[in-house]
Amino acid sequence: MYRTHNCNELTVADEGKEVTLSGWVYRRRDHGGLIFVDLRDRYGFTQVVFSPDEGEVHRVGEMLKSEYVIKISGVVRKRPEGIVNKNIDTGEIEVLVKEVEVLNTCQVLPFEVDQDKEVGEELRMKYRYLDLRRDRMRENIILRHKMLKYTRDFFCDNDFIEVETPIMIKGTPEGSREYLVPSRIYPGNFYVLPQSPQQLKQLLMVASFDRYFQIARCFRDEDQRGDRQPEFTQLDMEMSFVEKEDVMKINQDVIIGMTKELAPHKKIREEVPILTFEEAMDRYGSDKPDIRYDLEFADVSEIVSGSEFSVFSGAIKDGGVVKAMKVSGGASFTRKDIDALTEVAKQHKAKGLAYFMHSKEEGIKGGIVKFLSEDEIKGISEAVSLEEGDLVFFTADNWEVACESLGAVRCSVASKLELADKDDFAFLWVIDFPMFEALDDGSVQAMHHPFCNLLEEDLPLLENEPMKVRANAYDFVLNGNEVAGGSIRIHSPEVQSRVFEVLGITGEDAERRFGHMIEAFKFGAPPHGGIAWGFDRLVMLFADEPNIREVMAFPKDQKARDLMLGAPSEMPAAQVEEANVKCVNLE
Ligand code: AMO
Ligand code: AMP
Repeated sequence: MYRTHNCNELTVADEGKEVTLSGWVYRRRDHGGLIFVDLRDRYGFTQVVFSPDEGEVHRVGEMLKSEYVIKISGVVRKRPEGIVNKNIDTGEIEVLVKEVEVLNTCQVLPFEVDQDKEVGEELRMKYRYLDLRRDRMRENIILRHKMLKYTRDFFCDNDFIEVETPIMIKGTPEGSREYLVPSRIYPGNFYVLPQSPQQLKQLLMVASFDRYFQIARCFRDEDQRGDRQPEFTQLDMEMSFVEKEDVMKINQDVIIGMTKELAPHKKIREEVPILTFEEAMDRYGSDKPDIRYDLEFADVSEIVSGSEFSVFSGAIKDGGVVKAMKVSGGASFTRKDIDALTEVAKQHKAKGLAYFMHSKEEGIKGGIVKFLSEDEIKGISEAVSLEEGDLVFFTADNWEVACESLGAVRCSVASKLELADKDDFAFLWVIDFPMFEALDDGSVQAMHHPFCNLLEEDLPLLENEPMKVRANAYDFVLNGNEVAGGSIRIHSPEVQSRVFEVLGITGEDAERRFGHMIEAFKFGAPPHGGIAWGFDRLVMLFADEPNIREVMAFPKDQKARDLMLGAPSEMPAAQVEEANVKCVNLE
């Protein structure tokens, strides 16, 4: 028998008991006589003592090293007063070792697992199984498990049916690049890995399942970022005979309920605001604004439309806007601070970042003050409620660029001034997204995906003014992160065909790529809608981690590699040939 108890279990109530424990040598202290070892397993650790009175046992205790796997048997005793540790479960007892067996040794570690020291990303990824022994990572993975269980229980208890959909599907791009799987049996043909189970879950609604969910793996061959992985997990759900309010309510309830249970220290506001895409951009310059802090924009276009400052009046003449954002206390920003923020605005296509400030000593001064009339300054000051010590930033451009670039400045200012409280959980919904977006090459693509239904009143604009058409789509946003996105879907074959047409997917091409959807809609498709949560992002926010790699057991690194297994890797030539693949352009 390896153990009678786990390493977190024994207390003073067990005093005098003979017990057996197995685990890893966590910390070892040799007091030149007594040897103390913290024996660790998944559950916690227990102090075990090797006494010189125990001859051979003590000699084994002397040669133990970090992360050896051992089994000990011994007697539970109370710790002397001075060395009681109230912070751990087993802090009042220790086990005097009577027998010890080394189950396995451990080489010198590439990094310490008993410390919170920074370790290089490459080492952590290569030895992920050691990294996962560390407290922080173990806690993250266990938190993730609890969130998965909470989610699964919730949906099961609410009549949702969990259905697994295939991982090898037909190439049907939804937006990002797909991973290809060559077919051995059909040379030159490919499966792809799903970006999401979007079409399959809609087909399950056509199949009358009414309420579906799945904890689904999704695959996207995109450039990596902190909140993106090539392979990630969605909580994917779909419902029939619903309107957007139904889908929003049930998802909001489960996510907030889960926060209260699994992250009780987070401060939640019961009232979850709903902003349209246009409002979110107008007020915060983002479709996923962080509303833990204010920094709201004012539109000062009217005030400065006749200004002598041609940067402002010119932008308005060209059909653009001038957006202003007051930063309380910003008058203390240095030239260098402002230059750095100007750089941020420029990275988001702004031509510059105008400003002036209200200093305690010198009144209104700096930046563009010299170009503005007294009335203009007064008007702006009123519009933003300017007070002593404040600064105002401006962007002048077309609406998108003015909002977006000032939105980027807003985020940088908030992080510079540390305005966001990390224990504040500020949820909001953003709705009524544009259905389409224009790409740089002039073509049009679906902003979310081509299956979103349109707002009823925008349907007549579909062919002639597609860029004005809004989708019946909704994103759930938490502290500036898009944690979920969904929509009410098209269920009319006619509307679906019209949307494909606008996207330039027509005739045979539409038939080949999406014929199955159009056809399915002709066999009694119910009205339906759903959403998918980025599960990794949600865990990241619950765990206060800076990126999703910290909450995935075996993530890819920032260059999409698995450094532990060594993937991607070359394959034996015969196997490649059998898969009907010919490699060209190899470096
Ligand atoms: P969408 O593409 O918005 O919607 O994805 C849903 C959520 O998944 C998360 N997410 C990611 N997380 C980690 N790494 C990635 N590469 C990644 N890409 C997306 C985001 C996002 O909000 N089928 C639709 C959902 C629907 O309409 O029901 C879909 O996939 O948090
Ligand atoms: P200039 O006259 O180009 O030197 O610009 C004067 C100030 O206006 C500088 O602080 C610029 O950063 C800023 N500026 C220039 N173009 C814009 C713009 N489109 N929006 C906001 N500020 C701008």
